[in-house]
Amino acid sequence: MTPQLSETFVLVGKVEDVPPGQSKAVKVHGRTIALFHVAGQFFAINNICPHKGGPLAKGKLKGYVVGCPWHDLQFDVRTGFGTDGGGYCVASYDVRVQDGEIFVSSQCRAL
Ligand code: FES
Repeated sequence: MTPQLSETFVLVGKVEDVPPGQSKAVKVHGRTIALFHVAGQFFAINNICPHKGGPLAKGKLKGYVVGCPWHDLQFDVRTGFGTDGGGYCVASYDVRVQDGEIFVSSQCRAL
């Protein structure tokens, strides 16, 4: 029997939609979330950069760190924490994969 995901998790796509080292913007209850695939795992953070709103899903990914495409502030996709000392951070969300489908929590993790 397949385990059921909690109602807080929203289907956002299939594993093959986001190849390793890539990212994709997805919608979760009206919010745009940046979904990343790194080292066999998926991570989700708010897509909107807290500096001036750059789309983080379009940023350059190096390991677990994404650089905002507008002014290159850096964020750890595992936590949403800024990694360049600027004091910025973004919300992060739990991700589950089940039967080749990706689900993202609609509730952000506590910082
Ligand atoms: S908008 Fe992201 S670094 Fe400026």
